[in-house]
Amino acid sequence: MADVRPLVRDELLPPKPPERRHLISIGDLARDDVERLLTLAKTFAGTLDRDVKKLPTLRGRTVVNLFYESSTRTSSSFELAAKRLSADVMSIKASGSAVDKGESLKDTALTIGCYDPDVIVIRHPEIGAPNLVARFTEAHVVNAGDGKHQHPTQALLDLYTIVEELGRVEGLHVAIVGDVLHSRVARSDVQALLLMGAHVTLVGPPPLIPRGIEAMGCAVSHDIGAIKEADVVYVLRMQKERMLAGANYVPSLREYTARWGVTPERIRPGQKVMHPGPMNRGVEIDGAVADMADALIERQVRSGLAVRMAVLYDLLTHGPVGVKVAEIQAVA
Ligand code: NCD
Repeated sequence: MADVRPLVRDELLPPKPPERRHLISIGDLARDDVERLLTLAKTFAGTLDRDVKKLPTLRGRTVVNLFYESSTRTSSSFELAAKRLSADVMSIKASGSAVDKGESLKDTALTIGCYDPDVIVIRHPEIGAPNLVARFTEAHVVNAGDGKHQHPTQALLDLYTIVEELGRVEGLHVAIVGDVLHSRVARSDVQALLLMGAHVTLVGPPPLIPRGIEAMGCAVSHDIGAIKEADVVYVLRMQKERMLAGANYVPSLREYTARWGVTPERIRPGQKVMHPGPMNRGVEIDGAVADMADALIERQVRSGLAVRMAVLYDLLTHGPVGVKVAEIQAVA
């Protein structure tokens, strides 16, 4: 009988390098992954109220934030999240970098790759930019928004905020209202909310709701009155920078506000209102709604910090979650 023993026994081989994981789309995550990340975020949120907020957890690791689009919340929270975990952080904005001189994304990725970063967080106007960076570097890549495609950490922080406020996501009804067509937040949130068992209705004028989106498992309504039935009203701004030049999606902003703006009269008491920011007060959301006690907009920002700490930590550590949470508590 032929000898079928392997030349070298498995246990003598060097361990297989762990598969490099990325967070590019909510589609990369199973329900278990989302639950793990939300549990981890809750643990990190507990560290935000301390006098000394820094944890040594990612000491010696390098995180690069590469932002090709303007950002306030996402870039600041990724930077602070990495700093709170003691990682070395480098934040590069397209303006003021060699991108201004015509450098391609591939060359920028190769350049940054020379510093052996552990994580690259990228925001870019083109769909697929994070995948390209993942191909040309050895880093874990986190998508902080690619065109109108995905913005997975926004969806995770939205889930986290809903759970904190309402105790669950399963069975809740969330109405997403506004410019869904150009919104990566809407795409990521619909996927994440459905994954976690919520009902989702997209509300807006027909030109701003992608045709056939019901196939994802959500409902569509062109009647602003539909938001009254939801537990959570999630408001989106008109994303003019992604609209095709010359295309008329709505007759005018004034008309949009009159027909689709979220005003105090259009919501009912007790409904929670969310918005990913930046808000255009007086356009898609009335200032009085944005400032009411049931608006969770600032809580979303705070959740963003804890959730991004969880995402960075989770990508850079492997092993059972129970151990990780115990480790965090031990160093805290
Ligand atoms: C969103 C984005 O950039 O996709 N904002 C954010 O990340 N907080 C939504 C938007 O720009 O409207």
